[in-house]
Amino acid sequence: MNRSNPKKFRVKSFGCQMNVYDGERMSEMLVDQGMSSAADGEDADLVVLNTCHIREKAAEKVYSDIGRLRGKDGKSPMIAVAGCVAQAEGKEISRRAPSVDIVVGPQAYHRLPELIERAKTGKKAIDTDMPAASKFDILPTRKKQARPTAFLTVQEGCDKFCTYCVVPYTRGAEISRPWADLVNEAQALVDGGVKEITLLGQNVNAWTSEDDKGKLQGLDGLIRALDGIDGLERIRYTTSHPNDMTEALIAAHGEIPALMPYLHLPVQSGSDRILKAMNRSHTTQSYLDILARMREVRPDIAISGDFIVGFPGETDADFEDTLAVVREANYAQAYSFKYSPRPGTPATVMDDQIAPEVMDERLQRLQALLNEQQYDFNKLALGRRTDILLERNGKLDGQLVGKTPWLQSVHIIAPELAIGDMVDVTIESAGPNSLQGKMTRREAA
Ligand code: SAH
Ligand code: SF4
Ligand code: F3S
Repeated sequence: MNRSNPKKFRVKSFGCQMNVYDGERMSEMLVDQGMSSAADGEDADLVVLNTCHIREKAAEKVYSDIGRLRGKDGKSPMIAVAGCVAQAEGKEISRRAPSVDIVVGPQAYHRLPELIERAKTGKKAIDTDMPAASKFDILPTRKKQARPTAFLTVQEGCDKFCTYCVVPYTRGAEISRPWADLVNEAQALVDGGVKEITLLGQNVNAWTSEDDKGKLQGLDGLIRALDGIDGLERIRYTTSHPNDMTEALIAAHGEIPALMPYLHLPVQSGSDRILKAMNRSHTTQSYLDILARMREVRPDIAISGDFIVGFPGETDADFEDTLAVVREANYAQAYSFKYSPRPGTPATVMDDQIAPEVMDERLQRLQALLNEQQYDFNKLALGRRTDILLERNGKLDGQLVGKTPWLQSVHIIAPELAIGDMVDVTIESAGPNSLQGKMTRREAA
């Protein structure tokens, strides 16, 4: 380990896909600076922990991770804490964990090289600014990608201020990246071997910008432009907010074959009273209306969502309303969490905080229902013929894993194929979490 002049680095990202994207951009930048990525099992001289602050457990994890970085000789690599914990806790981190050398927020990580130079001199380097100049203008252009799928952050930040959520504080105000930058970055990714791009934003469907002709465009317009890139076969986007789900974006799902039939649209709760206390500014009915409209346009669409159980004041009846919405919405996949009070958010000081055992019980019941729906959705694929894009090797010899348009993982044994291939498969068996398929036999002509 050489903490005074790091050459090998490792970036570990936690939390949402936007953090994964940031982690990749940091790695590309460090490579640009002449450093190289540490191989699996190899010691790194610099470790970047790209952290998440969304729930208490996620935020506390960083401190145990820092402890684990100490080597047998008692020495640590140079440690940088990036991401949303860095933004939320700033200097406090190096007070609690003196072995941390660098603290850098999500809007300042393009300055990592300067911060490393400062840390080399033995000084603490802290940067949690939200500078007016965008990091995207300074980061190096995208490199050749190791995988056929890539994330592309198009929108950052949040102005919605749901009463439980830290994101508006850790990521700052909503901004949309400019049209030309995104078209260029998507083109660079495709030139680097990418076949599927997922557009990212905390409220991705709030994205808006003028196009190259000065016309104001929404996310549907951007998707149409990217659809014109030769070699880009699949487009996805996440996460959407119900209030920004425009008719134009819904309609795009019926018109653009490359736009995959999958929508992650969090509702959080099925009780209008709780939604109001959460400051969600949509109702269960307005949410269900969007799903109904979406299914008109694209009958096979897979719906996914996020839920919080045990928000302050949630009664048994409120929780039953959530189960009722789940039954009506019928999810292909979903994430559900126990409410976690976050410092500085309004919900933390609300009356009627819910007891942990009540939250546990509600979460179990909700997850049982969601798991059943996911399994049912997977079973619908049995016997179906579909394309999958191979993304990684499986555990078995000659096994590869790809995704269906509906984002299900499919395992196939096909030693003659490679990561990045798009294959026509027939689904032979379905489990709760993944499918098995084989290449569709071609009929003799
Ligand atoms: N912008 C997205 C989601 C951002 S955070 C949206 O508005 O839907 C991802 C998910 O974490 C949220 O959808 C919510 O379900 C969950 N979450 C956020 N804050 C939380 C908290 N304090 N406790 C528990 N879950 C939380
Ligand atoms: Fe958080 Fe709400 Fe913004 Fe989503 S919309 S990031 S849940 S404040
Ligand atoms: Fe976590 Fe920050 Fe994403 S808090 S969920 S890493 S925006």
